[in-house]
Amino acid sequence: MKEKISVYISEEDTRKKIKELGKKITEDYKNVEGKLLLVSILKGAVVFMTDLMREIDLPLSIDFMIVSSYGSGTVSRGNVKIIKDLDINISDYNILIVEDILDSGYTLSKIIEMLKTRNPKSLKLCSFLNKPDRRVANVELDYCGFVIPDEFIVGYGLDYDEKYRNLPYVGILHFEEE
Ligand code: IMP
Ligand code: MG
Repeated sequence: MKEKISVYISEEDTRKKIKELGKKITEDYKNVEGKLLLVSILKGAVVFMTDLMREIDLPLSIDFMIVSSYGSGTVSRGNVKIIKDLDINISDYNILIVEDILDSGYTLSKIIEMLKTRNPKSLKLCSFLNKPDRRVANVELDYCGFVIPDEFIVGYGLDYDEKYRNLPYVGILHFEEE
C-alpha cells in the first residue's frame, strides 16, 4: 500500500492559530501569581511547543516528558508508562501541558492524574488538535487549536511510523493500492 497525504490544515492557518493561542494564553496568565511552566510530551508535541512558546509574551520555563502507550500502530492503548519524568519540583509552578493531539485521552488523563499529586499551583491543558469522536477517558481542554474528524493525522510533529513529523502543515494520511 502506498502512503498518500492530503493537506488538511495549511501552514498559514497553523501559524495563525498558534498566534491566537499564544495571545490568549498571554492574556490569561499575565496576572497569575507564580511561575509558568510549559510541559510538553515528546515527541509529537515538540513542534507545537517550540512555536507556541514564542507566541507567549511572558517569562516561562519549559520541560519535557516522554511517555509510551503500549502497543504500536495507529491505536493508542490504555497503559501509559513514564519513560522520562520532569526534571524539577512543580509545586511553585502553574503548569500548562502542551500536547499535539487529544485522541482517546488516555495519555493526558494519566499525566494529569500524576502531576496533580505533586500539587502544582495550577494545571491547565492545551492541545493543538482535538479528535473528540475517539475520546474514551474524560479530559477537558483549556486551549484547543482545531477540532478534527476521526482521521489519521500526520505532520506538524505528528508521525506515522516516525515519518512526516517535519511537514509544516497538518495532513490526513491515506493508504492507496499501488
Ligand atoms: P491518546 O489516544 O489521546 O492517548 O493519544 C496518544 C498519542 O497518540 C498522541 O499524543 C499522539 O502522539 C498519538 N496520536 C493520536 N492520534 C494520532 C494521529 O491521528 N496521528 C498521529 N499520532 C496520533
Ligand atoms: Mg503525543
